[in-house]
Amino acid sequence: MTHPMIEQAAEILRGNDRGSYTVPTHGLYPFQWNWDSCLTALGLAHFDEARSWTEIDTLFDHQWEDGFVPHIIFHEADDGYFPGPDVWQTGRDVPTTGITQPPVAGFAVRRLFDRARDTDLARRRAADLLPRIARWHDWFYRCRDPQGTGLVAIIHPWESGRDNSIDWDAALAAVPTDGVMSFTRKDIQHANPDHRPTQAQYERYIWLVQHFRSLDWDHAKLHDASPFRVVDPGFNAILIRSCLDLAAMADTLGQGDIARSARAQAQKGLTALESLWNDAHGQYLCHDRAANTTVDSPSVGGLLPAFAPIPAARSKAIVARLEVIGKRSEYLVASHDPDSAEFESLRYWRGPVWLIVNYMIADGLRTAGEDAMADRIVAESLHLIEQSGFAEYYDPMDGTPCGGGSFTWTAAMVVEFLTKGRVPA
Ligand code: GLC
Repeated sequence: MTHPMIEQAAEILRGNDRGSYTVPTHGLYPFQWNWDSCLTALGLAHFDEARSWTEIDTLFDHQWEDGFVPHIIFHEADDGYFPGPDVWQTGRDVPTTGITQPPVAGFAVRRLFDRARDTDLARRRAADLLPRIARWHDWFYRCRDPQGTGLVAIIHPWESGRDNSIDWDAALAAVPTDGVMSFTRKDIQHANPDHRPTQAQYERYIWLVQHFRSLDWDHAKLHDASPFRVVDPGFNAILIRSCLDLAAMADTLGQGDIARSARAQAQKGLTALESLWNDAHGQYLCHDRAANTTVDSPSVGGLLPAFAPIPAARSKAIVARLEVIGKRSEYLVASHDPDSAEFESLRYWRGPVWLIVNYMIADGLRTAGEDAMADRIVAESLHLIEQSGFAEYYDPMDGTPCGGGSFTWTAAMVVEFLTKGRVPA
């Protein structure tokens, strides 16, 4: 572990460590975020395995009784972030939000488990986390797929982890703004407003929060009551992958019931995912469940299914799409097709490159035997860091660093790429 970039990454992870959880970055995001923590644990494990298990344990300590796991845990008061606990009002002892995030926990825990040097510790911690993750997955299929289609919907753009993606524009336009509270954004005090979501989008984000709050955060009701219900192929692929990873661990740990149920969920999800494939774009697309329309938006959400065991022909088609996107930009993988009129190279999820997405796509392509493209994504990711440091996200055209700096999950992914070489598995 002598590579200077690993030393820099370790320093960022240490600097953002709050003892039992890690903040994504100082200032802009001063709490614990769900999928940030799970992916960060992969980086932490290279230095301190016990600490990496704790990262995920802390998150699941705040799981709700119905199985739901929040997107933010507000461990300590900090008025540098909006919307804070006073807006969410979820009534938890340690405040949390009432929406969730992409369920990477099953994947991350299996990876920690499979690579563990301290195998006794890993068996104990994994055995404890397994039923909690299974309850979260069950929550998804119960509360976010009430019709039993095999695919879950998000009910707020922030749940996708791709907050202001072009994918949500049409669905978000159907969200009203009447009665929305007046508020002061904090994100644009920490980061360049031109790199962040717009005010019109923020008003709808907050309207949805107020709406769910008025329904007492009753997850049994929120899906049907939300004007925003979108089925995201990337989100579903992450859930499917986590179900399969959970099943594999459950087999090893002798928890047959969990294994069987998780495998059935994944199988149904994989079959249903095919309904989101779009031949014209050569990739998957979102489905607007509220409007019952296909979302004609070629984003990275439709390439992320490479992370799940999709059919080989689909993986190959995604490689072909990546080659095209690679010709239209300098660094893979732009979060939106640069050829599209809505593409914005600096604005958050409407164009920029995110290392965690690169990691998941490369990982899936590697498993599918698509090594050349996986290698290319890893190489371009590391090149970005060399050029621009550990930013939140990057301009795919010239590598300009954007958003917050000294960013935790970016550092974690760099450690993964470098210590696992060109083979992130
Ligand atoms: C932004 C990102 C989201 C991430 C959070 C903390 O909201 O869109 O994916 O979890 O920041 O890093």
